[in-house]
Amino acid sequence: MRRGLLITFEGSEGCGKSTQVERLAARLKKQGTPVLVTREPGGTAIGEQIRHLLKFAPESAAMTPETELLLFEASRAQLVRELIEPALANGQTVICDRFFDSTTVYQGVARRLPSEVVEQLNRFAVGNAIPDITFVVDLDAATARARMLRRVRPAGNRDRMEQEPQEFYERVAEAYRELAKHEPQRVILIDGSPSADQVEAEIWAAVESKIATRESQI
Ligand code: TMP
Repeated sequence: MRRGLLITFEGSEGCGKSTQVERLAARLKKQGTPVLVTREPGGTAIGEQIRHLLKFAPESAAMTPETELLLFEASRAQLVRELIEPALANGQTVICDRFFDSTTVYQGVARRLPSEVVEQLNRFAVGNAIPDITFVVDLDAATARARMLRRVRPAGNRDRMEQEPQEFYERVAEAYRELAKHEPQRVILIDGSPSADQVEAEIWAAVESKIATRESQI
């Protein structure tokens, strides 16, 4: 059985990546590719509990950056072993809404935790599950923030991460652009400002080209 592709989506809150995750999954399924869609933090029963703790639990107001880092990695370690690795081994294409690049960017750059610690923990959490393609949906921080604030939540509240100041999100957006520059063979920067249809078409072209390259290597 040929190992499946691991495709991850990254970007600031409000950049439109979750819409693109759904659209890509729908396109792949339509052409008969088995697909698993998941997200971070979360995706497993343990991970969803960690997600709640990280984003919404009242106790999380007192969370230190170090604890935050370890909780994201714990959720990831569980997700990789429980869902991602078995799916890839089974030939499924896995699409993950955020993965280890989020930790590099948010905890490493925006929270300023030591990058070598973040890198080591990322490696420990993912093992062999390195993405084949990572899309960074790039949107300027002000537009992304405005979109994020318009998003309706049942309680109308922002989560803990969304309460960070604008400057935090500027660091996030810039760090993603840097990442794309440093790893151009894996990380594709996509302009998130055109219509969702245009963004979808650009992403699809990149995925098709990746699939064609893989097939030519058989
Ligand atoms: P989202 O699923 O709505 O994008 O929320 C996840 C939040 O967690 C978002 O603010 C980004 C943040 N995050 C990190 O800070 N580090 C990580 O490793 C991951 C996966 C997410």
